[in-house]
Amino acid sequence: MTHPATVHVPLGDRAYDVRIGPGLIDRAGAEIAPLLRRPRVAIVTDDTVAGLHLSRLQAALTAQGIASEALCLPSGEGTKSWPHLTACVEWLLDQRIERRDIVVAFGGGVIGDLVGFAAAILRRGVRFVQIPTTLLAQVDSSVGGKTGINSPHGKNLIGAFHQPSLVLADIAVLDTLSPRDFLAGYGEVAKYGLLGDAGFFEWLEANAPRLRDDMAARQHAVAHSVAMKAGIVTRDETEQGERALLNLGHTFGHALESATGYSSRLLHGEGVAIGCALAFDLSARMGLCSQEAPSRVLEHLRQMGMPAAIRDIPGEMPDDAALIRLMGQDKKVVDGRLRFVLARGIGEAFVSDDVQPDTLEQVLRDAR
Ligand code: GLY
Repeated sequence: MTHPATVHVPLGDRAYDVRIGPGLIDRAGAEIAPLLRRPRVAIVTDDTVAGLHLSRLQAALTAQGIASEALCLPSGEGTKSWPHLTACVEWLLDQRIERRDIVVAFGGGVIGDLVGFAAAILRRGVRFVQIPTTLLAQVDSSVGGKTGINSPHGKNLIGAFHQPSLVLADIAVLDTLSPRDFLAGYGEVAKYGLLGDAGFFEWLEANAPRLRDDMAARQHAVAHSVAMKAGIVTRDETEQGERALLNLGHTFGHALESATGYSSRLLHGEGVAIGCALAFDLSARMGLCSQEAPSRVLEHLRQMGMPAAIRDIPGEMPDDAALIRLMGQDKKVVDGRLRFVLARGIGEAFVSDDVQPDTLEQVLRDAR
């Protein structure tokens, strides 16, 4: 029996716990009950998660005398948009959710970001609990309070910082993910080792291939990732500095996702994985780290069966100039200058706006 691990996020009057372990959905009623002023919650989820896990969550709440209503939104990135945000907020108002109530975001990153944003703006802010059901959401998007929706201009361009009151990461639900979705989330796990913890990356090189089958190893990987994120968010909640390191691989990744129309050709975590490989390649070409670092990144992603280069993305890709233009929509751009997370070695990332266009073009060209 694997007991839940707890990572505390010490943000003063907005502090909260992230609980990580198998079977937490079945204990959700007991975990959430201490937060409630009245025994009722509103759950927002998507069609896929509802079909697989909603009745179990509602039964766990009922067992603790907590009534619940659920709204099911369509699965997929398209849900992170104004029309579904409107539908969600109006439904919560219709349910008469008050400021002292709790909204439960039950799903992957799309649901967590959308519902967190709805909670941030509903009655100028209601509390919410994240129950993330994908590896990507458990190690990244459910922790740290970034919420929001996409715009036709780019991803996550509309949103707010709004911290959850509790995160319940039930790592057993990850068994229902397709191998591809599981691996895409793994891109974000590897990112933590690459950005700030060489020892963790070494552990992943040795242990990541058994994360699908070994619950204790999976719990360690998720808890360690969450602990690293909690540390960064506590030091820099609104991304004035250090938090930007969490975007390792994202400048490249977001451009690749945009170029593929946010479609199933490239999942977010796959874009991050390719982006990490490109960021290390760029760092080596700029003389910031030895060639051994990008070789190790590439080898590990290949060992995991993940895409690691632009040539691994199926279908036609736009030319280098178009990709570089897409990078210009990145939220890290300052005064029109592209900013990259680069590295002096595995686990030693930093932010730089000192990248020469011809070096960048070389990196993109060689990854095709
Ligand atoms: N996903 C990056 C962050 O939370 O800052």
